[in-house]
Amino acid sequence: MLTASQESLCGGCHANALKVSHPSGITPRKKIPPEYPLDWKGDLTCTSCHTPHGNSPGLLRGVKHGREFCLACHERKFFDKMPDQGASLMAGHMNSGIPETGQAMNLDPDSIRCLGCHSQSGDPMGVNVDRRGVLRHSDKSVNHPIGVLYADAMRFGGFRSPAMLSKAITLPGGRVSCVSCHEGYSKQHGKLVMQNFRSALCFECHDL
Ligand code: HEC
Ligand code: HEC
Ligand code: HEC
Ligand code: HEC
Ligand code: HEC
Ligand code: HEC
Repeated sequence: MLTASQESLCGGCHANALKVSHPSGITPRKKIPPEYPLDWKGDLTCTSCHTPHGNSPGLLRGVKHGREFCLACHERKFFDKMPDQGASLMAGHMNSGIPETGQAMNLDPDSIRCLGCHSQSGDPMGVNVDRRGVLRHSDKSVNHPIGVLYADAMRFGGFRSPAMLSKAITLPGGRVSCVSCHEGYSKQHGKLVMQNFRSALCFECHDL
């Protein structure tokens, strides 16, 4: 028997595997194939997908990789419904929390991933980050600084303390990211982390 949940034991060293990642430590509603075993309490956990004592690439269980791996548990139509066919989720974890050094504007890896599709000139949504680090949505959504350190902004006042922020808000490496406002790992691609009725999302950080 393990002394604590795997989310806590493995997460002690792999904290990023719990942020902007596939759910872990949950009781599946659907049937899971026996190659990906649930733990003693019937939960999908780290070792449902990983063999921590193995030597396969990424310590992944079984022989399936990439999309094939995901399709072991999910139906094809689960991904077909997403605007990007799930392409942005295939890595399993999104490494949020790692501060990028030497990157122009200090964008975190999650924002870089989003911008991989959302900043090309061909993006029908027209999202872009300009040279000063201002994220420009299309006309109807907010334009917003991105890549800025929350703690730096806080020193000038007008922001709630990070400890008071909803757990839904992620600040990878302490910075404002696409995934501070949008869910980075969700079946509803691009969903806001919370409803923005009466600017509730904005007031989560801005203390006006
Ligand atoms: C004491 C710290 C520690 C704990 C606890 C820990 N790991 Fe690791 N893990 C490591 C280190 C160090 C590596 C090697 C990283 C490298 O090679 O860059 C690693 C590698 C991995 C990799 C492979 C990474 C790759 O790119 O190939 C996976 C997957 C992984 N661990 C999963 C787990 C799981 C699941 C658990 C819990 C059962 C766990 N780890 C617990 C430290 C830990
Ligand atoms: C639904 C399946 C799934 C679950 C559950 C899962 N992982 Fe992973 N994990 C993956 C996939 C897929 C990869 C990418 C493997 C590859 O290199 O192809 C990965 C990669 C990793 C890596 C390598 C580095 C990285 O961040 O990409 C670590 C470390 C890791 N997982 C730890 C964990 C820990 C700790 C847990 C539990 C908290 C966990 N995983 C739960 C699917 C899962
Ligand atoms: C071992 C089985 C298993 C594998 C492999 C697996 N998943 Fe899942 N996934 C689940 C379960 C269980 C849930 C929880 C929902 C449910 O019970 O239907 C889930 C939920 C999700 C969600 C919904 C998250 C949310 O909160 O909206 C997404 C997105 C997802 N998986 C994507 C993937 C991707 C991408 C891969 C491949 C990297 C993958 N899954 C591999 C079992 C799996
Ligand atoms: C693999 C490419 C790809 C990646 C990576 C990607 N997206 Fe998308 N996204 C798309 C496509 C394609 C659409 C649909 C465009 C359309 O409908 O014209 C879309 C649509 C959206 C929408 C609008 C959804 C709606 O229902 O109106 C949002 C919001 C969004 N993406 C946010 C994000 C965020 C945040 C990230 C990073 C966590 C991200 N995207 C990563 C391809 C991608
Ligand atoms: C400060 C919060 C915030 C940040 C940071 C943020 N967004 Fe948004 N985003 C929003 C809001 C609010 C909407 C409007 C959503 C709605 O009306 O449902 C939106 C809408 C979108 C849309 C829909 C089309 C559009 O332009 O209106 C896309 C695509 C999108 N965001 C992508 C991104 C990407 C990519 C990033 C990171 C580079 C990002 N967002 C960062 C708050 C944010
Ligand atoms: C995750 C926390 C967070 C959320 C959520 C958020 N903001 Fe911000 N916002 C910041 C930070 C941090 C700055 C300061 C950036 C800087 O110092 O340049 C900022 C700056 C701004 C600015 C520029 C003000 C200036 O004088 O530089 C505007 C305008 C703004 N936010 C509007 C919004 C709106 C509208 C929403 C809701 C859609 C929103 N913000 C949601 C954290 C957030």
